[in-house]
Amino acid sequence: MSHHLFFPLFSLIFFLLLFSVTSRQNSYRILKSSSSSSSSSCPLNFKDVKPLLQLSNVNPSNDLDSNCASILGVLRIILSEYLNLTGSFYPPLNLAESCWNSYDSAVDSFIPGFKIRSSCGFRTQWISEGCMNISTKSEFEKLVQPDLNDVVSNCNQSLYDSFCATCLTSIATMRISYLTGANNGNISDCTNMPFIYVSGVINQYGPSDPGTAKCLLSLDLSSDENGNSLKKRLLISLISVVSFVGLCCFIGGFFYYLRLKKEKERKARRKRRMGRVGSGSGSNLQSINGSTHLIKYSLDEIKQATNKFHRDNLIGKGGYGNVYKGVLPNGADIAVKRFKNCSAAGDAGFTHEVEVVASIRHVNLVELRGYCVATTNLEGHQRLIVCDLMPNGSLHDHLFGEFASEKKLSWPIRQKIALGMARGLAYLHYGAQPAVIHRDIKASNILLDENFEAIVADFGLAKFNPEGFTHLSTRVAGTLGYVAPEYALYGQLTERSDVFSFGVVLLELLSGKKAILSGNDEQGQPLLVTDWAWSLVRKGHILDVIEEEMPELGSDQIIEKYVLTAVLCSHPQLYARPTMDQVVKILETDLPVPCIPERPISFTAELEDIERSFSNNGFGHFSIY
Ligand SMILES: *[C@@H]1O[C@H](CO)[C@@H](O)[C@H](O)[C@H]1NC(C)=O
Ligand SMILES: *[C@@H]1O[C@H](CO)[C@@H](O)[C@H](O)[C@H]1NC(C)=O
Ligand SMILES: *[C@@H]1O[C@H](CO)[C@@H](O)[C@H](O)[C@H]1NC(C)=O
Repeated sequence: MSHHLFFPLFSLIFFLLLFSVTSRQNSYRILKSSSSSSSSSCPLNFKDVKPLLQLSNVNPSNDLDSNCASILGVLRIILSEYLNLTGSFYPPLNLAESCWNSYDSAVDSFIPGFKIRSSCGFRTQWISEGCMNISTKSEFEKLVQPDLNDVVSNCNQSLYDSFCATCLTSIATMRISYLTGANNGNISDCTNMPFIYVSGVINQYGPSDPGTAKCLLSLDLSSDENGNSLKKRLLISLISVVSFVGLCCFIGGFFYYLRLKKEKERKARRKRRMGRVGSGSGSNLQSINGSTHLIKYSLDEIKQATNKFHRDNLIGKGGYGNVYKGVLPNGADIAVKRFKNCSAAGDAGFTHEVEVVASIRHVNLVELRGYCVATTNLEGHQRLIVCDLMPNGSLHDHLFGEFASEKKLSWPIRQKIALGMARGLAYLHYGAQPAVIHRDIKASNILLDENFEAIVADFGLAKFNPEGFTHLSTRVAGTLGYVAPEYALYGQLTERSDVFSFGVVLLELLSGKKAILSGNDEQGQPLLVTDWAWSLVRKGHILDVIEEEMPELGSDQIIEKYVLTAVLCSHPQLYARPTMDQVVKILETDLPVPCIPERPISFTAELEDIERSFSNNGFGHFSIY
């Protein structure tokens, strides 16, 4: 304890520093009592908002985006507390104006003259507009009732690190009941409503707990850059004026000692907290398993259902395995996917992956019913997943397969299928936690339910995309004709590779032609539907892409929009393709399709390279219809 030896001056400095550090840790509580002006008419409570703005480091020297993000995050805390207190998600529309004004005046003491709405691009009414027609806690709970228990068991705890991920997974599960599209950026829209609900109502530490705020509201309340660093800097410069260089070294030592001590304290506190959580809610693994409703089938049950994987029950073949139809004893029709070449070694990973996939639910994504893992002497190791059988088969069946000779799909049905596919994929990319890249979108993976709603299947094979960044993959998985050039050639995998495949499927849907046209072009090379469509579009013959004799055709303008979107999505250059979110917006609204950039070289020239890369690596994943 070297500081006992120091002169009074040093003791003074020491206490000042100590104060600066402890006051920082307690700043939220200390400042909580110092209330700010609040409008009597706005029902939101902006009294406690200043310490939060300070802890989230709102200040004039930050860039606008990070200030707006922090301000929005703090607003979500206020809305969460409001929800907890009143049972309403947001204030009535006629008070929206006064709420913004109260918030403006609170922010004013951090950034003088800051007008949140005009600076951050929020409209007045957004603070009072939620998701669809939900405005109260009970309305929300009625919708998500079946999933509520999982959310409570996974999110009513300290949400640091892995606990955050578990909670987010169950929130992703909960959202499916009603969410029809991601709507990032709004205040309590479909994307944010579940987070506001969980942080305000479910989590026992509440929205202003740093762990909860960070996990659920994307708000950092414990960054090292916040509030008091200014105070600390001021103090340091003061000290440096009055002290010699040598003394500064001692002060440096103090800093080091204090930080070390603080870190130790923080770790100890964290450990205590973890311990409490660990003993309180039982094994973490259990709660993950509990978050889905998967059934673990025995191999005998599956064999009985599929007539021992009889050839007549085979309904699909793919690189990863075959798909069989079957009937359970209770009469339910199921589809069973039987994976090829399994070894017992990967079972833990497989069951975990199945659990995560099962937790991703959306009306346009296939829902897993259960799975089976077994080893027999005769058949070796078996891994199977079970879903409901779709009564209308796949898009491939309707365009090119067993239903193709029947009535052609009408334009309104095709439009619905296109939108459903786009929404399902947008959810995989931007709504699901963790984000998923499908990697094998093709017509036979787009299933159709009894109302011809598109159901995207087979994303179970997708590798989870770490943090959503571009990464290189060593094994290319996909189907010839659908796989994006950059992925096939360089293994570069991004969401935009899915956008490419989506564009190809959309072209198939519009034109009734396969991804690789059976007729060759003039040079005797196989012709891709993307090149064929692009050549027509470039000549201005956009409507010629549409399949002949399609019933109930819509207006030329709308049809052209679909064709242009498909051509844009299947652009060989990755940067030219829109995101799935943008695709949904373009197809749903009057938004125009962006310009289609000219293509670099004929894509067919690259086809040989692609084929060569397959045969060299001996991948078994590619299949051509
Ligand atoms: C919202 O409520 C209105 C009237 O009650 C209804 O017409 C509309 O369809 C509802 N919208 C949604 C998305 O449920
Ligand atoms: C937010 O919601 C409003 C209407 O509620 C909508 O007009 C706007 O486009 C949305 N903003 C974003 C960024 O999604
Ligand atoms: C969360 O846990 C706390 C403490 O165990 C409990 O008091 C509270 O009722 C729980 N909240 C919910 C929504 O279950």
